[in-house]
Amino acid sequence: MQKLEVFGAKKLRGQIKISGSKNASLPILAATLLSNKKTVLKNLPMVRDIETMLSLLESLGSKIKIHKKQIVIDNSKQKKKFASYNLVKTMRAGILVLGPLLTKFGFAKVSLPGGCAIGSRPIDIHLKALSKLGVKYKIDEGYVIANAPRGLIGNNIRFSKISVGATENLIIAASMAKGVTKLSNCAIEPEIKDLVNFLNKMGCKINWTSKRTIKITGVNKIKEINYKVMFDRIEAGTYLIAAAITEGNLKLKNIIPKIIKTEIDILKKIGSRLIVKKKELHIIGNKKIKSINIKTAPYPGFPTDLQAQIMVLLCKANKSSIVQENIFENRFMHVAELNRMGAKISIKGNKAISQGNINFAPAELMATDLRASVSLILAALTAKGKSIINRIYHLDRGYENIEKKLKKIGAKIRRVNQ
Ligand code: UD1
Repeated sequence: MQKLEVFGAKKLRGQIKISGSKNASLPILAATLLSNKKTVLKNLPMVRDIETMLSLLESLGSKIKIHKKQIVIDNSKQKKKFASYNLVKTMRAGILVLGPLLTKFGFAKVSLPGGCAIGSRPIDIHLKALSKLGVKYKIDEGYVIANAPRGLIGNNIRFSKISVGATENLIIAASMAKGVTKLSNCAIEPEIKDLVNFLNKMGCKINWTSKRTIKITGVNKIKEINYKVMFDRIEAGTYLIAAAITEGNLKLKNIIPKIIKTEIDILKKIGSRLIVKKKELHIIGNKKIKSINIKTAPYPGFPTDLQAQIMVLLCKANKSSIVQENIFENRFMHVAELNRMGAKISIKGNKAISQGNINFAPAELMATDLRASVSLILAALTAKGKSIINRIYHLDRGYENIEKKLKKIGAKIRRVNQ
């Protein structure tokens, strides 16, 4: 097993090219199943979740060729409808193949994604909405076995709760259903907009009719296309926080700053200076960090995927602050590890109250999930001395070349085999 050694505390300076978005790539990869032809995707991050999704597509009969950052997916012989436990268990986004398989074949057997460290993460909203398109399903030995012998039929569906994955699964399924589907109370994360752009380029007919409502007219032909996936806004937010926390000076390239306006506004409030250009963002961290309270919320609110990272920054604020987690019920596992580094964070329900003015001390640490892992790196980057972070396989699910990128901007970090 590998671990990371981080030697703080260095100011991070320089320039970073932000990778393509993992969370946009995953539903787009699932949506390529709609095609019987080739699809070319660019800007995919080479991280483990993407590799898992590619293996899942291969197990379904897709032929995949990778040339640098360009991936060609050939579905001319794709016929299988069975997504196994081994591939879906490690990555919840595996459930996103359910919608495309059902709309293409009228049948699918997909493993339930199972529990996850940050909460129970059920798929009831996906299943309820699919049944409104005419899908009948049962759960048997950990699998969803679903069919619609006469194909999917468009309907009006209102999601009971905003769900990124359910919105994605339904958009993909309805794209080739018979007739018109109206989805309301949709998630409007930028990754969903990217999926819609991708599908429309393929020939689907999807329109936003109001802020959270989408009209989809089913089509029966899909075009062969080339598509460049959007930038990873969570990776961008993580590096912005890394700069803010180390009094750094960093330029982010390959991004569209207006997509992360909420994060930019918050970083300005805590005292960082941000210079915003059309496709570039420059941050200059300030020694003094002002406290602020944060509540996670669906987009355009503050992302739950940056909650752990911002908490590290707030530990160094001039006063105490409260971080409220409103999306997942168990997403404070980084707190115990941060407290071992000297943080003073207490948890009350879904609120984490952190005292300010903390100087993190180096420690040996354990990563518990993807975003928690990176929050430990952030804390270690400010701690004078050597920290060791174990179980970094979580980190490798979602951050492309993280040590290389951090080293380039002056961090002292290395990966070692245990
Ligand atoms: C996606 C992101 C994840 C992010 C999350 C919230 C991907 C691959 N993952 O996850 O990084 O943290 O959005 O922004 O894009 N829920 C139900 N029933 C369902 C579906 C969801 O109760 O059928 C609940 C979940 O447990 C959670 C909340 O709804 O509490 C939001 O989950 P959802 O938006 O679906 O997240 P994911 O799509 O799994």
